[in-house]
Amino acid sequence: MAGNTTTGVKVLGIGMHVPQLVATNEDFTKIVETSDEWITQRTGIKQRHITDGEPTYQLGAEAAKKALADAGIDASQIGLIIATTVTADYYTPSLACLIQREIGAQGCMAMDVNCACSGFVYGFDMAKRYLQTQDDLKYVLLVASEELSKFVDYTDRTTCVLFGDGAAAFVLEKQENTLYSSFLGADGDGAQYLAARGLRSVNAFRKNSEEFDMAMPQTKEHYLFQNGKEVYKFAVKALPEAVEKACAKIGIQPKELDAIVPHQANIRIIETAAKNLDVEMDKFPMYIAEYGNTSSASIPIAFCEAVKDGRIKHGDKICLVGFGGGLTYGAAIFEY
Ligand code: UT7
Repeated sequence: MAGNTTTGVKVLGIGMHVPQLVATNEDFTKIVETSDEWITQRTGIKQRHITDGEPTYQLGAEAAKKALADAGIDASQIGLIIATTVTADYYTPSLACLIQREIGAQGCMAMDVNCACSGFVYGFDMAKRYLQTQDDLKYVLLVASEELSKFVDYTDRTTCVLFGDGAAAFVLEKQENTLYSSFLGADGDGAQYLAARGLRSVNAFRKNSEEFDMAMPQTKEHYLFQNGKEVYKFAVKALPEAVEKACAKIGIQPKELDAIVPHQANIRIIETAAKNLDVEMDKFPMYIAEYGNTSSASIPIAFCEAVKDGRIKHGDKICLVGFGGGLTYGAAIFEY
């Protein structure tokens, strides 16, 4: 095996779930001024799945049940649930607790991670570190579940055509003498480029009517704002940097990876990054045409699809790489 072996993770089971409802590019031409040609050429997206009212936790629970079945373990054996999302149904309880309730994994640790589109990579690395340091922890359930349709403004053509809903989950356990590396980063100076605000302070005692943090976009209600150009510039730099830094830590070249599963935001970002990394495009499994951008769920959804299509096989050297709101970015390398 190339590179140093270390304590890492084994992916025991995987599963994904998307809502049935589909919105095609053609459907969007009926609600905003756009075209199939513009969306396809600029992003690679042809359609996206959108919920018909089912909550984020339900998508996550369905994906989790499939991952547990694939792993051949019972929910009661899970010691930690990490849920990644920017679109939780409640501020509290966490998405992880609701998924725990739905799958019947009562009693284990459960928490959410919000790192936007990099969430799954952060969660993956966190799972590895818990497994490595907590002796009585056998299995971690890592679930990404997102309903971007909740905070997409369907009158804003620059963002509404990009996003979709979906979920995917991995069951992980500790693995000795394997390949593992990660590189995670963030750049809060770019916070204003991708934002969806929380509740405003309207407490009964408030006297000051000033808005806080005018450096952030003053958006319409909770709706998602994106400065596409700035995020694009960040993404084409951050993606190769994260892959290269994670590879460098274990002394391998990006070319030696069997597959690089990227966050699915825009096919053009991936084509540029592939060139910069000098890795052929067919090593980047892309399913953006079917699902659009599902934030933290996009990497594990693409992973599940790539396994189903035979593009990722057991024994392959895999890199997961994400970038997005925060701004955040990160890559994790492991052997599948
Ligand atoms: O998941 C988190 C990470 N997010 C990303 O990585 C997203 C990064 N950014 C992008 O992928 C791209 O910037 C977008 C896909 C969001 C936009 O593509 P672009 O090539 O940067 O387009 P643009 O924003 O420069 O807009 C070009 C033109 C504008 O018209 P004018 O000003 O040139 O007349 C837009 O108004 O395209 C127009 N436009 C549209 N036209 C038809 C913007 N959205 C649409 C649309 N349909 N949906």
